[in-house]
Amino acid sequence: MSIGIVAAMKIHVLGSAAGGGFPQWNCNCRNCAGVRSGKVRTRPRTQSSIAVSDGSDNWVLFNASPDLLTQIKSFPGAQPGRALRDTGIAGIVLVDGQIDHTTGLLMLREGKPLDIWCTDMVAEDLTRGNPLFKVLEHFCTVRHQRIEVAPPVPFIVPAVPGLRFTAIPLVSKAPPYSPHRHDPQLGDNIGVLIESLATGRRVFYAPGFGQMEAHLDSLLRDSDCVLLDGTFWTDDEMIQLGISTQTARAIGHLPQSGAGGMIELLSGYERPRKILIHINNTNPILDEDSTERAALTAAGIELAFDGMEIDL
Ligand code: MLT
Ligand code: MN
Ligand code: ZN
Repeated sequence: MSIGIVAAMKIHVLGSAAGGGFPQWNCNCRNCAGVRSGKVRTRPRTQSSIAVSDGSDNWVLFNASPDLLTQIKSFPGAQPGRALRDTGIAGIVLVDGQIDHTTGLLMLREGKPLDIWCTDMVAEDLTRGNPLFKVLEHFCTVRHQRIEVAPPVPFIVPAVPGLRFTAIPLVSKAPPYSPHRHDPQLGDNIGVLIESLATGRRVFYAPGFGQMEAHLDSLLRDSDCVLLDGTFWTDDEMIQLGISTQTARAIGHLPQSGAGGMIELLSGYERPRKILIHINNTNPILDEDSTERAALTAAGIELAFDGMEIDL
C-alpha cells in the first residue's frame, strides 16, 4: 500500500526532436554528422512526444511519433504489466496531424480501441489526407474524442482524472497532405494547457508554437512550466543549408533568435520554467558547446531531452 504523497503532475519527455529525429537518417549536417561521430557534444533525440500522468500508473500520450515503440521500450511507466496484454497509455492527444506526431498510432494496432482526443480538423486529415484512422478501423479501431476549440472546452481523460486539459488553437500550418493545407483552419494546430486539479499547477505544451497571438499571453504569464516549439534557431535555417526554400515562420515555427523570436518573447515572462521541445536536427542549440546554446542558457531557457522528467 502506498501512503506516500504522489506527484500531482508528472511529465516524461519521450521524444524531443522535430520531424526526422536526431540524427536524421539521411542527413549529414554538422549536427547529424557530429552526433554520429561523437565529435559534437550532444545527444541523440527521437521525435516529439510527451507522456503526462497525475501520479498514477496511467499516462496520457501527447502525439504518437514514428519512434513510439523505441520510446515505450525506454520508458517503464508506459508498460506497467498489470495483465497479459496491458499498457500505461490511457488516452492519446494529438496536437496536429503531422507525420511526426501521428505515424506511431499504427504501432498501437495490437491493442484495445484507441481513445484519441483531437480536433475535427485533425480527425479529417487523418481520415482523408493521411487516412490512418481508416486503416486502424481494420485493427484496434479508433474512438475519436472531439476536442473543441471554438470556444475551447476543457476535457478529462477518464483514467487520469487528476488532470484537466484545455486545447488552445494556434495559428500554424496543416500538414502537406491536408486537403486544406493552403487554407488554414481553426483546429489545425493546438497547444494544450494541462492543469493539476489537486494543486492548480499549470503546464502549457505547444510544440507547434508558430507565432505570438494575443490569447497566448495569459498562458505564458500564468503557467508554471511551458514546453514550446524549439524547431529552428533562425528563420532561414533550412534555406541557408540549401535543404529547403521555406522559412521557419512559413512552415509554422517561431525561430528562437532575432527580433520577435522565441528568446525575446520569453524574456517578457518571469513565472514559468521555460523548456524548448521539437528541436530540428539542424538547430545549433543541439551542440552543447555552441554560442547559440549558451545564449539560450543565459536567457534561462532549457532544452528538452529524451527521458527528461518534470514533476510539478
Ligand atoms: C513540422 O512540424 O514542421 C514537421 O516536423 C515537419 C515534418 O514532420 O517533416
Ligand atoms: Mn513536427
Ligand atoms: Zn541534420
